[in-house]
Amino acid sequence: MESLIYQIMLMAVAAFVLVAVLLIVYTSWRNGISPMPSPASVRRTVVAALRKLPSRGIMVEAGSGWGTLALQAGRARKGWRIIGIENSVIPMWISFLAAKLNNQTNVSFIKDDLYTYCYRDVDTVVCYLYPGAMRRLSIILRSQLTPGAHIISVCFALQDWEPEQVITCRDMYRTKVYIYAA
Ligand SMILES: C[S@@+](CC[C@H](N)C(=O)[O-])C[C@H]1O[C@@H](n2cnc3c(N)ncnc32)[C@H](O)[C@@H]1O
Repeated sequence: MESLIYQIMLMAVAAFVLVAVLLIVYTSWRNGISPMPSPASVRRTVVAALRKLPSRGIMVEAGSGWGTLALQAGRARKGWRIIGIENSVIPMWISFLAAKLNNQTNVSFIKDDLYTYCYRDVDTVVCYLYPGAMRRLSIILRSQLTPGAHIISVCFALQDWEPEQVITCRDMYRTKVYIYAA
């Protein structure tokens, strides 16, 4: 009897893991990008840049993945309100739980679409996406961000925007971090 319960529990866990993996794969296929986190050295560069930015303190990470960058930014800028937007349910829930477990009350994660989110009150946008997403975001951010707001983009430049600064990270790919002022 005990071994039957054990087997049922094992199968339930395996089914849960399988569904979670399939969900991540399906959403990545729909998004055109997986929730791959930015490397540690890139995160350090972004956070160092965030420390220098003048800001009223509302930052959005568009496509926050597993939440590592938003949580690190939240520890560095305790006075800021940081919102991670993610439409992949599993990474979003893991980020949400990590913020709760670490008691990082200034960081929250929401399931939303980064193309329909309203950026009007946001003064810092951070993203690590792909060229097609940057083309779409370029138009959205141009029409919504107010003067004085900043955008930090990992790896990919914003079309038709002139960067204020381009930083080359120390990772093996020499990843570029683009900083723009609205
Ligand atoms: C490369 S990951 C970056 C993760 C995180 N920003 C980091 O630097 O560690 C890109 C994330 O954007 C998310 N994403 C892509 N399209 C999205 C959309 N339309 N709405 C919300 N999130 C999206 C993906 O699910 C993925 O988690």
